[in-house]
Amino acid sequence: MLARGSGPEQRTRLAVQWRQISWIACWIALCAVEALPACPFSCKCDSRSLEVDCSGLGLTMVPPDLPAATRTLLLLNNKLSALPSWAFANLSSLQRLDLSNNFLDQLPRSIFGDLTNLTELQLRNNSIRTLDRDLLQHSPLLRHLDLSINGLAQLPAGLFDGLPALRSLSLRSNRLQNLDRLTFEPLASLQLLQVGDNPWECDCNLRDFKHWMEWFSYRGGRLDQLACTLPKELRGKDMRVVPMEMFNYCSQLEDENSSAGLDIPGPPCTKASPEPAKPKPGAEPEPEPSTACPQKQRYRPVSVRRAIGTVIIAGVVCGIVCIMMVVAAAYGCIYASLMAKYHRELKKRQPLMGDPEGEHEDQKQISSVA
Ligand SMILES: *[C@@H]1O[C@H](CO)[C@@H](O)[C@H](O)[C@H]1NC(C)=O
Ligand SMILES: *[C@@H]1O[C@H](CO)[C@@H](O)[C@H](O)[C@H]1NC(C)=O
Ligand SMILES: *[C@@H]1O[C@H](CO)[C@@H](O)[C@H](O)[C@H]1NC(C)=O
Ligand SMILES: *[C@@H]1O[C@H](CO)[C@@H](O)[C@H](O)[C@H]1NC(C)=O
Repeated sequence: MLARGSGPEQRTRLAVQWRQISWIACWIALCAVEALPACPFSCKCDSRSLEVDCSGLGLTMVPPDLPAATRTLLLLNNKLSALPSWAFANLSSLQRLDLSNNFLDQLPRSIFGDLTNLTELQLRNNSIRTLDRDLLQHSPLLRHLDLSINGLAQLPAGLFDGLPALRSLSLRSNRLQNLDRLTFEPLASLQLLQVGDNPWECDCNLRDFKHWMEWFSYRGGRLDQLACTLPKELRGKDMRVVPMEMFNYCSQLEDENSSAGLDIPGPPCTKASPEPAKPKPGAEPEPEPSTACPQKQRYRPVSVRRAIGTVIIAGVVCGIVCIMMVVAAAYGCIYASLMAKYHRELKKRQPLMGDPEGEHEDQKQISSVA
């Protein structure tokens, strides 16, 4: 580096230059550490919004070196399939997590356990078939949850128990056939629910959820179409417009079961359900919509009262029609017998008027005598 024969002047100049260079290098390094706290390889990091964008990179695993301060993490359009339970460990500042358009099939029960500040979770278009009931228990601030385009056939009871702040939920395009109203009771802030494009079976199992939907709509919630797939007679019909009278047979079935002594003890009703939604001030909500146990006597919404009214009116109309039919029949009988009597008398009075019928009868009588 330094020539042996160089003078002291040159040496000091070089020293100054060296100091400047190292200072600049140090400054750059400091800045990098401050601005991009170890941005994962090939992801884009925004130091202002604390967003880490790793979308569309063909990733098969979540980058292990995510900055702990990350607020938004975009992992959509990758090839993630099975994730380890520590994939999002320590990301307690994370607010938005987008895992859409991957191949996730199963999520470990504690994978979101550290995401205590999460407000939005996108799991759209994966291959999720089951969810653990404790999956979302540690994210009480969650407001938006998208589970559309997956393979969910049912939701575990209690899945939404820790989500009092959830405002929008999408279950579109899954394989759901019915839902349990108890699963949805804790969603006190829910405003938007998407359930379309599922193979709904509009039978007794969906009856209580129909009640819940009516109550949900009543308190201003928005719901897309819940079109029945089965039974055939209801195919394509929205479950909400199927009259409640169609499900009267369900109570009969239940009665038969309980009278046969086969009654299985219902879901535990001891658990206090949270108050479902602040009802609109002034508006009186349905009687006891907050009850966690869908007992027949306690839960009697408008449609049931309407059903009773319909039954009474139908009875009265049927009664009137029956009476009219009896009267008509009696009239017909009396008329017929009168006419028969009249004809007989006519025949008796005019036996020799050449009445061919009379002749025939006479002949018949003769032949029978012979
Ligand atoms: C999370 O943080 C704890 C303590 O801060 C540390 O021991 C652990 O290794 C971290 N885990 C991950 C996956 O970064
Ligand atoms: C969670 O969010 C709140 C409000 O946005 C914030 O004050 C708090 O620091 C966050 N928690 C963590 C661990 O980042
Ligand atoms: C779902 O994701 C796959 C690949 O991950 C993609 O090819 C497909 O277009 C996506 N479908 C929708 C409806 O977004
Ligand atoms: C009645 O009991 C049978 C079996 O005992 C069961 O399969 C059926 O689902 C029950 N029906 C109702 C409406 O509970």
